Amino acid sequence: MNEGGWRETVVVRRRFLNWMLGTGAGALSASILYPVARFLVPPEVEESDESQITLPMAPRDIARNSGQIFRFGSKPGMILRTPSGELKAFDGMCTHLDCIVQYREDISRIWCACHNGHYDLNGAAVQGPPPRPLEEYSVVEVGDKIVVSKDTG
Ligand code: FES
Repeated sequence: MNEGGWRETVVVRRRFLNWMLGTGAGALSASILYPVARFLVPPEVEESDESQITLPMAPRDIARNSGQIFRFGSKPGMILRTPSGELKAFDGMCTHLDCIVQYREDISRIWCACHNGHYDLNGAAVQGPPPRPLEEYSVVEVGDKIVVSKDTG
């Protein structure tokens, strides 16, 4: 190989290496910056203005002295059947720091595991740190369906 051909080969190799380094650095930067940007600017989530929902379970699916969480728009709801057989529904987020509540069959109460908050079967905060009652929703059985509504008034 003559002197000119050797230099041309070196220049081509250098350009190729520069291109490889440039695209590698670009890809690395993108792989780091994209998740950071997604974290800092989260996608817009539409707040649901749904005020009524038909639950995906039938009334017979909720035994006495039991409860279940359901999705009400973008938030959790709690449907329960009291030991006396009444169906009730509440906001499923604790009024203390927004943990999701659950039904405790052993004490027949709505309970928040985060800080041991207790609500009675009317949604009243009766023990622990919750400062307010749970919002109660209206529940109507329509045939084999349960329709839950928020009071929008
Ligand atoms: S978040 Fe429920 S008791 Fe604290």
